[in-house]
Amino acid sequence: MTVSFQKAVEAAFKVFSRRNAATVTNDSLGELRINLNKVTKSDLRLDPLVLEDRIPTEQEAPVTYIRILEHKLMTIAVFVLKQGKRLPLHDHPGMFGLLKVVHGSVAIKTYTPLDPNQYPVPASLSERLANRYGRNIPVYPSRYEGNKVFSETDECCVISPNSKNIHEIHSESGTAAFLDILSPPYNHKSAEDYRPCSYYKEIDVDSQDSNIRYLVKITDPPDYWCNEAKYCGPELPVPS
Ligand SMILES: [Fe+2]
Repeated sequence: MTVSFQKAVEAAFKVFSRRNAATVTNDSLGELRINLNKVTKSDLRLDPLVLEDRIPTEQEAPVTYIRILEHKLMTIAVFVLKQGKRLPLHDHPGMFGLLKVVHGSVAIKTYTPLDPNQYPVPASLSERLANRYGRNIPVYPSRYEGNKVFSETDECCVISPNSKNIHEIHSESGTAAFLDILSPPYNHKSAEDYRPCSYYKEIDVDSQDSNIRYLVKITDPPDYWCNEAKYCGPELPVPS
C-alpha cells in the first residue's frame, strides 16, 4: 500500500522536526519504523529496468541513486546496488538513519565509533602508520557490530549518532535496493553545521578484543560512483 510510505514520511517529519539529541529515542522512532517496515518496491514504483539483475560493465555506475526528498530536516532516497557492488565503508556524523531493503538483499557490516580516551589507539599502530605515510594518521577506534544480511522481508536497520554509525553495504547475490532516510542530512556546503560523509578502511591489528577495530579515513573510493534515476512514486506529505 502506497499509504505506508506516506505514513512513514509523516512520522519521520513528526519525530525529526522536534529533534534534539535528547528526544529522539528508539521509542520515538516506533511509528516511523512500523510504517517503514511495510514499504515495498511497488509502493515506490521502482522501474524494473533499474532493478535488472546483471553485473554492470566497467563503464556503468555500480550504484543508482534515486532522489526522493531533500529537505533541511532529512533526505530520503533509494540506492540500487548492482549485482556484486557496494557502498564503501562510510559514516553519518551526528545523524540518525533508517534503511529498509525493498528489493533483493544486502549485507551490512557495521561499526560503532568509540571514545579514544576510553579505547586508546595502540602506540605500535600509530607508529606503524606514521612510518608508512610519513605523518601522523588519525585512527578511529570502533566496535565491530557484525555483518548482517537484510532482505525485503526484514525490518529496517537503524543507526544513530552514537550507535552503529559507520557501515559498508554489499549487494547479496543479485541487484538490491534500499530506501534510506537520513536526519539531519549530510551538509558538505556550509561551514556552519558541517556534516560531511567520510570514507574509511579498517587496519589489520592483532587486538586482544577481536571486536575492537581501528579505522582510518580514506579519500573517495574510485570504484564507487552513482548514476541517477528519476523517482516515479507517490507525492509526499511535506509540511510547509
Ligand atoms: Fe549509510
